[in-house]
Amino acid sequence: FLFNQDNEEKFSALLERYPDKSSLMLPSLWMVQYQEGWISLDAMQFVAKKLGCSAMDVYSVASFYSMFLLQPIGTHHIQLCKTLSCMLAGSKTLQEHLQNRLGIKAGETTPDGKFTLSLVECLGSCGTAPCMRLNDDYIENLTLEKLDALLEELSK
Ligand code: FES
Repeated sequence: FLFNQDNEEKFSALLERYPDKSSLMLPSLWMVQYQEGWISLDAMQFVAKKLGCSAMDVYSVASFYSMFLLQPIGTHHIQLCKTLSCMLAGSKTLQEHLQNRLGIKAGETTPDGKFTLSLVECLGSCGTAPCMRLNDDYIENLTLEKLDALLEELSK
């Protein structure tokens, strides 16, 4: 893995502003993810070299945040919250519905590469539970009807 030229330039610019390389961990991981769509072990080793830390340090940060993807994903990434407020508001039923409709289990991608379903911890939207992320958007007050309409739209 290597940064493309654009990311290499961004990294150099950030390094001038933040000489302490450890502050560049999150921006570097974002750059990798925007460039590749996910963060491979190879990319983590690259980031570790850039930042002068161990690949384990990079892995521990990348694996802590659910917004970082450690495996290739489908075009539409559904991240359903599985934490308490959402669970009490019916996220388990939504999960089963999604799994049945998409024919996959949580953590899997549909064979056509269109959808990936992930279960994640609290998305910080407990007041509007149940909640999920669809790529970069947050969908709140989810219902089965809302979910169906959304899947219908995305399957076109
Ligand atoms: Fe689901 Fe907080 S518990 S958003």
